Amino acid sequence: MIKENKIFSTDNGVNEPEDTDFENRLVSGELTRRDAENGDDSEASLRPTTLDEYVGQEGIKDNLRVFMQAAKNRGESLDHLLLYGPPGLGKTTLAHIIANEMGVNIRITSGPAIEKQGDLAALLTNLSHGDILFIDEIHRLSRSIEEILYPAMEDKVLDIIMGTGPAARSIRIPLEQFTLIGATTRAGQLSSPLRDRFGMVMRLDLYTPEELALIVTRSAGILETVITPEGATEIALRSRGTPRIANRLLRRVRDFAQVLGDGVIDAKTAATALERLEVDRLGLDSVDRKMLLSIIKNFDCGPVGLETLAATIGEESVTIEDVYEPYLMQIGFVSRTPRGRCVTRLACEHLGLPFRPSVQSDAPRQLSLGDTE
Ligand SMILES: Nc1ncnc2c1ncn2[C@@H]1O[C@H](COP(=O)(O)OP(=O)(O)OP(=O)(O)O)[C@@H](O)[C@H]1O
Ligand SMILES: [Mg+2]
Repeated sequence: MIKENKIFSTDNGVNEPEDTDFENRLVSGELTRRDAENGDDSEASLRPTTLDEYVGQEGIKDNLRVFMQAAKNRGESLDHLLLYGPPGLGKTTLAHIIANEMGVNIRITSGPAIEKQGDLAALLTNLSHGDILFIDEIHRLSRSIEEILYPAMEDKVLDIIMGTGPAARSIRIPLEQFTLIGATTRAGQLSSPLRDRFGMVMRLDLYTPEELALIVTRSAGILETVITPEGATEIALRSRGTPRIANRLLRRVRDFAQVLGDGVIDAKTAATALERLEVDRLGLDSVDRKMLLSIIKNFDCGPVGLETLAATIGEESVTIEDVYEPYLMQIGFVSRTPRGRCVTRLACEHLGLPFRPSVQSDAPRQLSLGDTE
């Protein structure tokens, strides 16, 4: 109850802190403009460049070491590889590391950037032996482009139709051996013929707090900031299992440490700074709390339909589904039932509120037309 006024006070939109805008959220796994633009502190400068520097994902690293060694021994290119997992877990980083360790060039593009078949044909014909073609957001390739990719991946050839009508003929251009690395946050949206053509499919998992603390400590070293192990742990615990968030929180905490303290990040500085940034001990920010409180307060812990919830907290329903809800479900704070979203006892305990579900198992509450669940 105590926190409600404070949290709902941003409802008028006037005092909205900049980070409640979901694209610039401090605890978003997605790349924000600020991450990319930070000059010497930008994300790229914190990227590990070798497999040994890449923290965590041990299973993936072990397998990759074997496959890369085998490919090198045979003088072949690495098999095509699909990397999938939530944003900010290190897919792009891993693709760069593979290129580095294999000693080959990497060409980078993304699904939405390839508009015409000719764009992809140009990329493919320019690859040298062993090169890597990295296609980010590969689930957004159009079908007609995918069809160019199939023979390229399977038979290392490019089939192009020249001309139209009766004069049309197909020509076949041989390609160099290459490795396609595809990255996606949505493996489910990938067409199955495309997925089947990858020799290796690897899923990146969320990182443990210990792994994130290592990443934070390493990044602090690059940023020439002194951090204690406790300070690193404090940041790691609030980073939602995601290195990108951990690095972003580190940069912000460093600002506080430099301006308000002696520049050293210890547990107390980190906790105080993160408190002021409204990122709580589980990495929830004010929007997460607003959503939870809305379900608890207005819908007696649920169930509430997605559209109704979206209207209540003033967000788009897709934003709730894609951005806010996944982490809350992952930590067991929100559950999806056929009747709508429910808040769990765990979430109430975290917010210091009593868990008083009224009709969770019975009739849906205030479901309106258009609610999907
Ligand atoms: N295993 C790791 N060890 C150390 N740092 C990491 C690791 N994984 C990611 N990072 C850091 O997190 C940042 C984000 O990683 P990256 O850009 O590779 O994520 P991504 O999975 O490609 O995200 P997106 O889905 O948005 O493209 C990197 O700049 C890097 O500094
Ligand atoms: Mg990426």
